[in-house]
Amino acid sequence: MKVKLLVVGCGARGTGYSKFALDFPDKAQVVAIAEPNPERRNAIGDAHGVPENLRFHDWKDAAAQPRLADAVLICTQDNMHEEPAIAFAGLGYDILLEKPMAPTAEACRNIVAAVKRAGVMFAVCHVLRYTEYTRRLKEVLASGAIGDIVSIQHLEPVGYWHQAHSFVRGNWRNEAESSFMLLAKCCHDVDWLRYVMDRPCKQLQSFGTLKHFRHDCAPAGAAARCMECPAGVECNCPYSAIKIYLRDRLDQGQTGWPVNVLTQNVTRETVLKALREGPYGRCVYECDNDVVDNQVVNMLFADGSTVSMTMTAFNAHSGRLTRIFGTRGSIDTDSNTITLFDFLTTKKTVIDTAVNNDGGILSGHGGGDFGLMAAFISAVAERDPSKILSGTDETLESHLMVFAAEESRRTGKVVSL
Ligand SMILES: NC(=O)c1ccc[n+]([C@@H]2O[C@H](COP(=O)([O-])OP(=O)(O)OC[C@H]3O[C@@H](n4cnc5c(N)ncnc54)[C@H](O)[C@@H]3O)[C@@H](O)[C@H]2O)c1
Repeated sequence: MKVKLLVVGCGARGTGYSKFALDFPDKAQVVAIAEPNPERRNAIGDAHGVPENLRFHDWKDAAAQPRLADAVLICTQDNMHEEPAIAFAGLGYDILLEKPMAPTAEACRNIVAAVKRAGVMFAVCHVLRYTEYTRRLKEVLASGAIGDIVSIQHLEPVGYWHQAHSFVRGNWRNEAESSFMLLAKCCHDVDWLRYVMDRPCKQLQSFGTLKHFRHDCAPAGAAARCMECPAGVECNCPYSAIKIYLRDRLDQGQTGWPVNVLTQNVTRETVLKALREGPYGRCVYECDNDVVDNQVVNMLFADGSTVSMTMTAFNAHSGRLTRIFGTRGSIDTDSNTITLFDFLTTKKTVIDTAVNNDGGILSGHGGGDFGLMAAFISAVAERDPSKILSGTDETLESHLMVFAAEESRRTGKVVSL
């Protein structure tokens, strides 16, 4: 069966997931789209040959029609997930929903209730569960190679320029407009840690602050926009928009993400205009950002095992680093290579799980984007929900862990689940 798809929100993610239908036309087809931005709507509409009458400007127009497709990919921004998810569940669509499910626990519960009521297939885009790396890691853990997990140390190195791009200047900078940092960035990590631990979490505790990207940390003489900053100050700033988008990328021939977020058609002129006038040209110390740039979360699991997680902006942008400490061995990983140390034999085993990074859907998020789409499409085609690793219950559980950790950060208290 070829699965027919409606794509809601044709930005970075909607466009990315839709590529699955171009790469595997025998498995899926984009038959309808909803997107208010005409350039994006036409780009994806043309790429998939969607007829004009099925190119909607708003998801509500698509939801006002009788069911147009087997499944809907909901790829709108964080605070625009609940309403369409509930509406399309009611219309009988199977649903692929971008993470986070929604910015509040109540909204997440509403989505889960609507999906269960409708009895439709449902997957949240927790892509890390679907990577080859995670599959191999779970295999190693299930084999008993390190015994029972006692604790995990996990680092999410967001990266200095990625923080500046997405969480200081960009879409996820301001909690009221999107969601808090732990939900926006680390719901992946908390979900993945719960998946790897494979046991319920009991208590969480967290600290986190916006330590650096604030007005009072601006260097003397800095201007409100990088293009207007004195060269001496701008050239000494690792977060300079001229450095991040022009010198480090466009000048090196890179026109993809994150440069293509500034403007639909990337040329030197359009990028310069965006830097002069748009949000991505602002000084990182003069934005309306309020999400944290560093956060730690401690977790206690039901059997006494523990996890400590750190999210920080202040590093190179790289894969997540995780150390897993077991009763018979330990594991060091960098999201590609799994290095296993056996206490009995004192031998090290190295497992390389790297995927070909060609920039296509097969490589996005270490193969997770493809793994997720392949699992969702075959679940829909074969009416087999067991292919989905990120359905209602496990996703709600890990989201509730995130909300509990954030409550702890705000109140200074340990929060029990
Ligand atoms: N799974 C992951 O690893 C991952 C990675 C990045 C982002 N995300 C999540 O994916 C979601 C989308 O992120 P993005 O980077 O693609 O954002 P984006 O801003 O590029 O895309 C969102 C699109 O939704 C469109 N939109 C707005 N109102 C609409 C409406 N009424 N009807 C239809 N479309 C509408 C916007 O015009 C925009 O094109 C967010 O929730 C984000 O947190 C997930």
